[in-house]
Amino acid sequence: MSQAVEYVINRTSGSVALDVFSDAEAARVRAYHMALPGYAPTPLAALDDLAGRLGLAAVHVKDESFRFGLNAFKVLGASYAVGRIVAERLGLGQAALSLSAMTAPAHREKLAGLVLAPATDGNHGRAVAWAARQLGLGCVVHMPKGSAPARLEAIRALGAKADILEMNYDEAVRLTAAEAAKEGWIVVQDTAWDGYETIPGWIMQGYATMAEEACLQLEAAGRAAPTHVFVQAGVGSLAAGVVGRMSVRLKDRRPRFLVAEAGAADCLYRSALAGRPVTVEGDLTTIMAGLACGEPSKLAWPILKDRADVFVSCPDWVAARGMRILGNPRGGDPRVVSGESGAITLGLLTLIMETPSLAALRDSLDLGPQSRVLLFSTEGATDPKRYRDIVWDGAYARAAQ
Ligand SMILES: Cc1ncc(COP(=O)(O)O)c(C=O)c1O
Repeated sequence: MSQAVEYVINRTSGSVALDVFSDAEAARVRAYHMALPGYAPTPLAALDDLAGRLGLAAVHVKDESFRFGLNAFKVLGASYAVGRIVAERLGLGQAALSLSAMTAPAHREKLAGLVLAPATDGNHGRAVAWAARQLGLGCVVHMPKGSAPARLEAIRALGAKADILEMNYDEAVRLTAAEAAKEGWIVVQDTAWDGYETIPGWIMQGYATMAEEACLQLEAAGRAAPTHVFVQAGVGSLAAGVVGRMSVRLKDRRPRFLVAEAGAADCLYRSALAGRPVTVEGDLTTIMAGLACGEPSKLAWPILKDRADVFVSCPDWVAARGMRILGNPRGGDPRVVSGESGAITLGLLTLIMETPSLAALRDSLDLGPQSRVLLFSTEGATDPKRYRDIVWDGAYARAAQ
């Protein structure tokens, strides 16, 4: 596989409907999150020293390692979707979408035996297991081969039944769907396919809270809205949630959007090249476990095709570089403990600003002294052993670019 960063500039048209990210919808979703136990906005780290070194006006990183103590952003999507599933099952309207209403003793019988079934590299399963526990539901989690044992244990610790299978992510998704159909479980997947769109749609809406919080935090700090937003993608639900909500919220101040993927699973990059959804087959071997998805989400792709300015395919060393930079700040910048999938965008930003072979990309994005860049560190050190291998021992050292 290529050890170099590759990219494709996308022609945006701005014609896709973004009603699910309207101000009213975003406020409703955020209110649901704010009422969950342990809610607090995750920190927005201002990396002013780094911004100066890179020749940018600002670099902000939303640190999702603090999200509900679960070390990743994913629970924003899972908790909202599970809330909507349960509210529907109980015949409650959106107005009663609160944990206390749904866990009232009167409803217990109707929810008895309800089992949620996600397939996941770890973060999504942990998030669904957490949401299931909040509502007293069952949870069965299948993980693809190569999943980290630490991630498996984190899911089991939340009371879910979980295992690691001998198959890749997309195959694990298909197996989960087949088993759930047989057992009467509810598939809670973060990607959409033909005939399975409602739940991943809710998940995507849930992710928008992260973008919303970032905008509110910038405003509260008296800082201007971002001119550039970099977001990482597996199936693209997260990126669509961020791009969708920020396009609506910032309207004519719409920032430029860059979508970054792991080279081993760069289905959106390849889709952008081909002009239609493309699936990447095989083992999808990458240290960025959260991004190891070979099939674009059916809901996310049209949004990203319409709104993302550039798609970038990155080798693993880009994420490792991002982890080391975020973990070793200079000049008073706050430290961000970022895992492999979390750090890809920061690694990429530093390369775009410093590497002659990427100057054309920098110019096409118009990145320079006036630019304010917003990134999302979507996970902390969810695989602690690999975190040390990379940050302490320098594994996945920089290759030529
Ligand atoms: C840490 C992390 N970042 C980013 C993503 C990408 O999200 P999506 O698959 O919605 O593109 C994931 C997905 O699991 C993840 O776990």
